[in-house]
Amino acid sequence: MAEVAPGSEELVLAFLAEAADDFVSGEAISGKLGLSRAAVWKHVDALRGQGYRIDALPARGYRLVAIPDRLGALEVGPLLNTHDLGQRLHWSDELPSTNDRARELAEDGAVHGEVVIAESQTAGRGRRGRTWSSPAGRNLYLSVILRPQLPPQRAPELTMVASLAACDACRQAGVEASIKWPNDVLVGDRKVAGILTELSAEPDAVHWVILGIGVNLNSAAADFPEDLRVVASSLAIERGQQVPRALFTAALLSTLEQWLDLHAADGFGPIREAWRARSCTLGREVRVDADGGEIAGVAEDIDESGALLVRTASGLLRFVAGDVRLARRVDPAGT
Ligand code: BTN
Repeated sequence: MAEVAPGSEELVLAFLAEAADDFVSGEAISGKLGLSRAAVWKHVDALRGQGYRIDALPARGYRLVAIPDRLGALEVGPLLNTHDLGQRLHWSDELPSTNDRARELAEDGAVHGEVVIAESQTAGRGRRGRTWSSPAGRNLYLSVILRPQLPPQRAPELTMVASLAACDACRQAGVEASIKWPNDVLVGDRKVAGILTELSAEPDAVHWVILGIGVNLNSAAADFPEDLRVVASSLAIERGQQVPRALFTAALLSTLEQWLDLHAADGFGPIREAWRARSCTLGREVRVDADGGEIAGVAEDIDESGALLVRTASGLLRFVAGDVRLARRVDPAGT
């Protein structure tokens, strides 16, 4: 396991990355970063040991040729455009669950915005006790630790913020994503991303919230367990092209931070509007599998707390949790 904070190695890498295809002299790097030439060489050597391909020519210096397909701080950090989210990033090759690691870090005093990413999970968790398929090196398994100034009753709003960000990041990657209540991101009828939120709170204060986000980026159909193949998909399957994982991760964290900032400044109103605009649930006949059994109706709206309002034979019902199955789209004009 490696937990990487920004350091000289990351700075050397960022310097090389900025030069793109050009060579940078060892002298220029050492002058700019205040390191000895020997220290620069040591960092280059360490980076090579981690899978970076760096050319070195005596008269010209160093040139970054290829980076490994990995989601550590060295790969994601230089692409980040955030003030808090991911500025401290804990990367592991394998974890039982990134949410579990994030919980340990939160209990140990982690700051707002710390992120845990694993290349694979051996016990990835979904909502309602399900497992989350987490094969190695293909997808994104990420947990963000938040310390929001919110009463605990409003914490579910943050899950909706996360689904907005996940949906937008998928759209930026070129697929027509939408959100199925409560927080599944779909392309067509198939799920590509899900959110698992956990929190610790006392009656009027939240200690921490963990937003666990799983996005199927480069899984092939054969990577999914057989029973999931008809209901799950990946961005690569949908757009017919692999997704650069580090770029996607940085874009997701930047988008998430923008939505979180808006939520902190203006409350749930704009989140609700944006969520509605991306919803594939509203206006549809649905079956809601809640604790009291399955209930059929038409999904009319989400209320000011994010609960789903469903018009049923016995009136308008409000659901704060549950699973939704989508049926046909209802034509409001009745045509
Ligand atoms: C769901 O749709 O049921 C939620 C899925 C959440 C999966 C993510 S992957 C990263 C984080 N770690 C976990 O164990 N679960 C979440």
